[in-house]
Amino acid sequence: MSLLIMGTGYVGITTALALAELGWPVSGFDPDARKLQLLSQGILPIHEPGLDQLLEKHLQRGGVRFLGDPGQAVSAHKIIFLCVGTPPNPDGSANLRYIREAAETIGAHMTDEKLIVVKSTVPVGTDERIVRWIETSQTARIPFDVVVNPEFLREGSALEDALHPDRIVIGSDGNGPAEMLMKLYERLDCPIIVTTPEAAVMIKYASNAFLATKISFINELSRLCGQLGIDISDVARGMGLDPRIGKLFLRAGIGYGGSCFPKDVDALVHTGKMHGVDLTILERAAGVNRSQPLFQLARWEQSLSSYTGKTIAVLGVAFKPDTDDVREAPALTIIAELAARGANVRVHDPLAKLPVELQSGQAVQYPTIEEVLHGADAAILCTEWADYIHADWGRLKAYMKGNFLFDGRNALDGEALSSRGYRYCGVSKH
Ligand code: UGA
Repeated sequence: MSLLIMGTGYVGITTALALAELGWPVSGFDPDARKLQLLSQGILPIHEPGLDQLLEKHLQRGGVRFLGDPGQAVSAHKIIFLCVGTPPNPDGSANLRYIREAAETIGAHMTDEKLIVVKSTVPVGTDERIVRWIETSQTARIPFDVVVNPEFLREGSALEDALHPDRIVIGSDGNGPAEMLMKLYERLDCPIIVTTPEAAVMIKYASNAFLATKISFINELSRLCGQLGIDISDVARGMGLDPRIGKLFLRAGIGYGGSCFPKDVDALVHTGKMHGVDLTILERAAGVNRSQPLFQLARWEQSLSSYTGKTIAVLGVAFKPDTDDVREAPALTIIAELAARGANVRVHDPLAKLPVELQSGQAVQYPTIEEVLHGADAAILCTEWADYIHADWGRLKAYMKGNFLFDGRNALDGEALSSRGYRYCGVSKH
């Protein structure tokens, strides 16, 4: 079975290399010729642990190749994975422009029967729209099937998640296509759920929405715990030991970011509205998340009396460690707000770049932790990179003017830092 991956972003590349690792010959197609050229040379457009070695390995073995000609790409492959982006529209709904373009490309170039596998996160009913888009762009009536097979990859551990999944979800109206996908994944050891395309799509949205809600729950609770002098990490640990609750995704912080949770929560709320159902819990979860970085900033400001005229070092721009992705990163809200309040913001991240629109005389990125801390009245940890957790904070203190250390991820050892002369304040932690 020859496989084509349409879309070579983080989901597409990870899917391609995981399938190659499972022994299938894989081709990648993307309308971006420059990206394909780099990938063919073994250069990844994203940072994701382990992917570069796998790309090199499978390029050398001939297990992976990249094609720029849509006609050749579509006609030469039986199974086509749609891995293109579904960015948010201003009203929160998913923008299906790239899905439509890919479907029309398939329709226009298919010469024999195909199985289309939708990996992109798409709203309920998109599989039917894909069928229509393919049919209307076909020049001859050729049969095809569309199945939904959502991904559950986390940035920073995408390869691990792809090769050791918790579950595989297949949404299909027929048995044949589902069986073909099960054959593709037969070397993976995990439960496989075969359901309708609608339920498969909902499993994906509901999973992300539930995890986002869990984070907003603990973040909102951390506000109360902060008032009451209760350490939220102790509360989360105590709650998490109950297997019905679980300890994961209960880390309080400055909020969730990334290309998935904010977008998917909004898209599900939008789907609810389209069908006359208010998903109020999710609306509140999104609201808590939007206000969380600002709430923490206001709390920390009390120690400094004001940010105006102060020099603040922001540690971490990426929405989470081990990625250079800054999409919807709460650090961006913090940096913009500090600059708006007249602080001099010094920024550092081991990998991620401060977006151009935030770069100004008031917000400047520095290449080392020593430089970012230079002359700072306070430092705010926004991303829990290992570089910060394992930094020699005793030595670093000499670079700072002040001694406030605000931990937006509750990732540092507050007691150890206090004993080294810092005035430590986390999220509901002193
Ligand atoms: C998320 C899901 O975890 C994946 O299962 C899913 O496949 C993916 O979205 C997707 O839809 O493609 P990802 O966005 O890569 O993965 O990152 P997460 O590890 O889920 O973290 C998301 C955000 O939540 C980060 O900003 C992180 O800092 C924050 N977070 C996470 C917390 O604030 N507290 C926690 O306890 C956990």
